[in-house]
Amino acid sequence: MKITDLKLDVVSIPRHTGFVCQHAIVRIMTDEGVTGLGEMSDFSHLPKYSVDVRDLEHTLKLQLVGRDPFDIVAVNRDMGDMFPETMYYYEKGTFIRCGVDIALHDLAGKALGVNISSLLGGRVRDKLKVCYPIFRARTMMEVEANVNVVRARLAQGFDVFRLYAGVNPDADEAFLDAVTREFGSRVTIKSLDFSHLLDWKSALRVTKRLAPYGVQLVESPATRNDFEGLRNFRMAVDLPVSEHVWSFKQQHDMIRYDAVDIFNIALIFIGGFGAARKAASAAEAAGKGVLIGTTQELSLGTAAQAIFGAGLTNLTAISDPTGPELYVNDVAAEPVRYENGYLLVPDASKPGLGIDIDWSKVERLRVDGFSWGDQKTANLQDRTSSV
Ligand code: LMR
Ligand code: MG
Repeated sequence: MKITDLKLDVVSIPRHTGFVCQHAIVRIMTDEGVTGLGEMSDFSHLPKYSVDVRDLEHTLKLQLVGRDPFDIVAVNRDMGDMFPETMYYYEKGTFIRCGVDIALHDLAGKALGVNISSLLGGRVRDKLKVCYPIFRARTMMEVEANVNVVRARLAQGFDVFRLYAGVNPDADEAFLDAVTREFGSRVTIKSLDFSHLLDWKSALRVTKRLAPYGVQLVESPATRNDFEGLRNFRMAVDLPVSEHVWSFKQQHDMIRYDAVDIFNIALIFIGGFGAARKAASAAEAAGKGVLIGTTQELSLGTAAQAIFGAGLTNLTAISDPTGPELYVNDVAAEPVRYENGYLLVPDASKPGLGIDIDWSKVERLRVDGFSWGDQKTANLQDRTSSV
C-alpha cells in the first residue's frame, strides 16, 4: 500500500467560554482507497504566529507520498527530523507530528479492519474518568460564572473539576469557598493548575492557602523547565505534583531531578501515539504515574487520547480530555460520549479511531488557514475570551 495524497482542512470552533480555537483535520489517502484521519488540535496557543497551512500541506506531501503507511516508526523518525523537539510546551511542530501519527494509525487500523487499540496491545479499561476545566479568573467578577459552570456540568454528570489558578488567589479562594459551600462532597477538585505562570515559591504560597479546600494534586507549579524549582515545590507539599511532558529531554530532566509524581501526557504535546506510549513507559520505568492531559481536542483527537489511555497500566490520576463538551461544535458524525464524568473509549469493534467525519460540518466550520485575531496575551494564557 502506498500513500498517494495528504490534505489539511482547518476549522475554527468556539468554546462555550467564547474562546475560539483552530484545528487542522488531516487526511492521508492511499492507492487502495483507504483514508486515515488525524487531528492537529488547537493551534490557538502562544506563540502568536501562524503556520501557513498550504505550505505545511505541501511539505507533508513531499515527505509522505509514495511511502508505505505502515512504516509508522520510520515516518515518525523523519517527522522528528523535520519538526525537531523544543523545550516548549506549545511547540507547533509537535502538534503537526501528532496529527500525522494519528492519521497513520487510523489508516493502519482501517486497512486491517481493527481498532487502533488492537494495534497497541488492547485495552485495560473502556472508559476514563475525566475532570471539567474551570478557566483562570483574573478578577473577582469572573468567580460567579465559574461557579455556574460547576452547577451546570454537575447536572450533566461531571463531578470532578480542575482549577486554573494562581494569578488572583482571592478569586481562586472565593471560587473554592463557594463550591465547597454549595456542593460539599458531591464535587471533587482534582487539581490546581498554575500553568507555569508562577515561580515555585509563589505557587507554594498560593497552594498552602488553597489546599485546605481539598485538592488531589498540583500541576505546573514552577516556571517552564525549572526542574529544580519543581522538585523544591514537590518536597515542600504533601500533595502529588504533576507536569506536562513536552519533550523527551524535558521528561528525562524531570526524572533525574525526581521533580514530579505524575506525568501529564497528551498525544498533542509529545507527538502522537508512538511518542506518548514511549513517555508513559519512561514514567512507568521511573516509578511515576500518568494522567492523560489535553489541549482540548475535537472528537477525533479525543478518541485518540481515549484509546491511548485505555491501554495504560500506570494511569494513576483523573484525566483531562473534555474538548467535545467544551466546544460548541465538532466535525465528527457522532462525537465521543461522556457518561457520569467518564470519557467512553470508542467501541473496540470500530476500525481505526472509530470516528467518522461529517464533511458538511467541516464545510460550515472551515477557514482558509490558521490566523490570529486581536486576542490578548492573558486570554491566550488563560483560554478565556475577555479580561
Ligand atoms: C486549553 O487549551 O484549554 C489547554 O490546552 C490549556 C492548557 O492547560 O494547556
Ligand atoms: Mg495543565
